[in-house]
Amino acid sequence: MQTPRELHFGTEIILRAEQLAGHSDDPDGLTVAYLTRAHQTAGAEIAGWMIGAGMQVRIDAVGNVIGRYAGRQPDAPVLMAGSHFDTVRHGGRFDGRLGILAPIVVAQHLHERGERLPFHLDVVAIAEEEGLRFRTSFLGSSALTGQFDFGWLDQPDAEGVTLRAAMCAAGLPGTEEAIAACALDSRRLLGYLEVHIEQGPVLLERGLPLGVVTSIAGSVRQRVVVTGVASHAGTTPMPMRRDALVAAAQMVLAVQRRCADPRDAAKSLVGTVGMIGVPEGAANVVPGRCEFSLDVRAADDATRDAAVADLEAEFAAIAARCGVQVRCEQTMRVPCATCSPPLMRRLAECIEAAGLPVFALASGAGHDAMMMTRITDVAMLFVRCGHGGISHNPLETMSADDADLAARVLLDFLRRTAAQVGG
Ligand code: GLV
Ligand code: MN
Ligand code: MN
Repeated sequence: MQTPRELHFGTEIILRAEQLAGHSDDPDGLTVAYLTRAHQTAGAEIAGWMIGAGMQVRIDAVGNVIGRYAGRQPDAPVLMAGSHFDTVRHGGRFDGRLGILAPIVVAQHLHERGERLPFHLDVVAIAEEEGLRFRTSFLGSSALTGQFDFGWLDQPDAEGVTLRAAMCAAGLPGTEEAIAACALDSRRLLGYLEVHIEQGPVLLERGLPLGVVTSIAGSVRQRVVVTGVASHAGTTPMPMRRDALVAAAQMVLAVQRRCADPRDAAKSLVGTVGMIGVPEGAANVVPGRCEFSLDVRAADDATRDAAVADLEAEFAAIAARCGVQVRCEQTMRVPCATCSPPLMRRLAECIEAAGLPVFALASGAGHDAMMMTRITDVAMLFVRCGHGGISHNPLETMSADDADLAARVLLDFLRRTAAQVGG
């Protein structure tokens, strides 16, 4: 069945992404941290769109917004499609949001045609994936998959507000019981589909609008704390200093060196120090403490774990040379995830039917889909990024025509899944 000509899903997706970007914690760039006012109003806007698309909406105990485009039978199985709506600081308007908006406009199309499916289509706007406010990446999908770590509830944000207090302030119950109840019943699930901007240059360089994701790189994150001795900047002779920042600077360079090892390039090893700080630092004090974040990823867990082990050993050697102490705390560990071959084949058929070449690629970025592989079959459709493939940057962009193709492939995917499920 063809989509009516006049309907351009892509234009609708771009317009809604712009409107959604109007909710921001920061007027100078798109920043939506978990459970801030902008986060809550963005969630409410998405819920309104879901209702407009004929869905019943519920908000779970961690703030995930779930819209159900009900299937023909109340006891039908569930196909879930979605992604996250939080952002990094000064992020792009499509990262995560495309994977929510595409299924909403497709559901709206089905609703307007009165077309029902033999399964419930649950569109999930996941409340938190980026880990911007708390050290809790994948918070939303952790709750959906029953993997939420209750220890997170006592974790403070930069202002000292705990996660539990932030939940209660946002009107969520903030109880372990309510969060445990967010877990989906995997027996009802047919699978999870995430449409996401590629966030890299591969499709752009090949002149392809869409790609089928094969696997998602796993990541390890650490908080590294270096402790030296704070002392007077004017009176402490250089050889007597135990400067935590000088030691940390050498550790950052060690990350760069180790992760740029050409022997690991084929395994897409990457390492990043994205945050570094001297708590209570001052211009006239030798830094006594320095903290930094470490994020290491690779196409396979063994390559990544070997690099992390080498870095820990190197950090210890640097600390000994500099007369400081170092402590590495793991804040996140997500194994590499593999997409489902049957769902990848179905996506490939849809891409082919749209008259496009089928191209498969691995994802270097993390996605909620990684968590969802723990409970169900997962597929991911990547969409070409403009501006050289840049993402986690306000320059992130995509074209309305590419968004349109992605939505049409998604619609075809739903119909092909319907044909398989029958009923
Ligand atoms: C999410 O954007 C990640 O890959 O860190
Ligand atoms: Mn992101
Ligand atoms: Mn994302």
